[in-house]
Amino acid sequence: MRKVIFFLIFTFLSGSALAAGPHEGLDCLGCHDPHYAKAQKIFKVKNDKYINPRTGKKPQDINALCLGCHNLTEFGGAGIKPIYLHMTHPVGIKPNPKIAKVPEKLLRKGILQCVSCHDPHPSNPNWKYLRVDTKGGSQVGVFCMTCHPAKVDTKFYGVQTVKIFTSMNEEAGKGEFALDDPNLVIFNITPEYIKPLGDFPNSIAPAYTTVPNLPWIYSPNPQNLPPELKKLLNQKK
Ligand code: HEC
Ligand code: HEC
Ligand code: HEC
Ligand code: HEC
Repeated sequence: MRKVIFFLIFTFLSGSALAAGPHEGLDCLGCHDPHYAKAQKIFKVKNDKYINPRTGKKPQDINALCLGCHNLTEFGGAGIKPIYLHMTHPVGIKPNPKIAKVPEKLLRKGILQCVSCHDPHPSNPNWKYLRVDTKGGSQVGVFCMTCHPAKVDTKFYGVQTVKIFTSMNEEAGKGEFALDDPNLVIFNITPEYIKPLGDFPNSIAPAYTTVPNLPWIYSPNPQNLPPELKKLLNQKK
């Protein structure tokens, strides 16, 4: 009997250590729409409202997909874990080589995008879908080292090189690859044949609501917004 209990506790613990990330709940269709896509790579959502303060333009490419969910609805998102470009690590820019030594493969059209740092596919086991294993967020410096190597004490982590997770090479399969490995494919060259049809609201598919036990809908309270966002919100009205 005791053995059985130990076994149960063990399977429970190891099960939770391998807990699925929240993008599993989107079940592919949260991000891709086989028939009613709004943007390239049959993306289902697209942020057509938010202005990137670093570029003065609406989000482009993958950034527009991620921010189609990860922004407040007022700013073209779906209110899911909103991040604000006003207070975010730069994205949407062409890197200044003195500030960051970004491996070419991590850029998209020469631009730093969300997917330069994250691989959002459910197969990515890393903390916060980062491209580099940070041991559950306890070694974030190893991740920052990818692009800011001069700032990182490699001895502290005992790590000399980074391995990059990618899900984009079906021939090699999902996994971690060295930066010079030809199998490291961050972006495939599938033709982007879908041109955005224009500004129309995101419809929230039922698929989103299958994320188990996660309170991912945020009802933003405008009173609690940071002042710069409050100003933006008032301009919209
Ligand atoms: C959180 C959003 C998200 C989810 C969920 C998601 N994808 Fe993707 N998918 C993306 C993004 C972003 C890209 C484009 C990446 C790029 O081009 O850098 C992409 C690209 C793809 C591609 C094109 C690859 C290529 O080489 O051009 C395929 C195929 C794909 N996804 C399949 C899937 C399948 C199957 C699932 C479900 C298991 C899934 N995706 C779930 C965001 C998502
Ligand atoms: C269709 C909506 C949708 C899109 C598009 C989407 N996400 Fe998410 N994302 C979610 C949901 C839902 C969660 C879980 C939120 C929560 O836990 O409150 C999430 C969580 C996350 C997390 C936190 C993961 C964790 O383990 O805590 C990261 C990082 C993330 N998303 C990155 C991205 C990136 C990068 C993109 C674009 C490539 C993207 N997401 C596109 C819906 C989306
Ligand atoms: C320079 C690398 C980098 C870029 C570019 C980047 N992120 Fe992140 N992101 C991180 C790191 C590191 C974390 C984990 C630390 C944290 O949660 O703040 C994170 C966490 C997140 C989370 C989870 C926040 C939470 O509260 O759990 C979301 C959602 C997210 N990113 C979305 C995005 C989106 C959308 C973009 C593009 C507009 C983006 N990221 C671009 C590095 C990046
Ligand atoms: C994929 C590459 C990449 C990764 C990984 C990365 N950065 Fe950056 N970082 C950049 C780029 C590109 C810039 C902007 C350079 C420019 O302004 O042209 C930047 C800029 C910065 C800046 C200056 C911000 C400003 O407002 O001027 C800081 C600070 C920074 N990064 C810290 C970090 C930290 C901390 C991490 C790890 C959590 C990290 N970066 C991970 C590419 C990256």
